[in-house]
Amino acid sequence: MIVTIDGPAGSGKSTAAKGLAARLGFRFLDTGALYRVTAYECLRAGVDANDEAAAVRVADAIDVRFDGDRVFSAGTDVTAEIRTPAVTEAASVVARFADVRQAMDRRQRELAVGQNIVTEGRDQGTVVFPGAQCKFFLVADAKERAARRQREMQTQGHSIALDELTVQIKDRDRRDADRPVAPLKAATDAINVETSRLKA
Ligand code: DC
Repeated sequence: MIVTIDGPAGSGKSTAAKGLAARLGFRFLDTGALYRVTAYECLRAGVDANDEAAAVRVADAIDVRFDGDRVFSAGTDVTAEIRTPAVTEAASVVARFADVRQAMDRRQRELAVGQNIVTEGRDQGTVVFPGAQCKFFLVADAKERAARRQREMQTQGHSIALDELTVQIKDRDRRDADRPVAPLKAATDAINVETSRLKA
């Protein structure tokens, strides 16, 4: 069985998806991590994330493994490295490219084969698993999402002003929602959940 949880940054997808997967005994799939690893490997190789052909080559070549909460790229633990502001920014740039998305979609479907899975991202219920039996779409206001991101970043040693994070989140929303391929949007058969007032 496949459960999809989509929504913008900071809407609570990871918390909800991890919690639900643990309760159901399902596997949890963080699809944003795949985009983040692609962006991280671009930066590491000195590839401009805006260079579509080069980003696609990196996307086709990534070797990602999940082990509990840890994410490995070519055998190296990159869990912290893929959450830096630079990688976050580059991930939303490479995510605009159709061929990058196709490479990511293929991996996501491979990871789900024969599994009970709770998967979270932007396009899980609309594009990658349109036939999923249960779909959720999470929303929350931008300021609350920025505050959540600020707390998360503080635990990782990054300190950024709330106003700046709010602007970044809105920019990222716009990029994710306006892109022509697999834009961020709720599937017509998704259950919409407003999480602004909910706690983790
Ligand atoms: O959920 P996240 O912040 O880790 O996602 C990182 C970036 O990847 C974000 O800009 C949106 C993009 N993404 C996407 O386009 N489709 C997905 N299924 C997951 C993430």
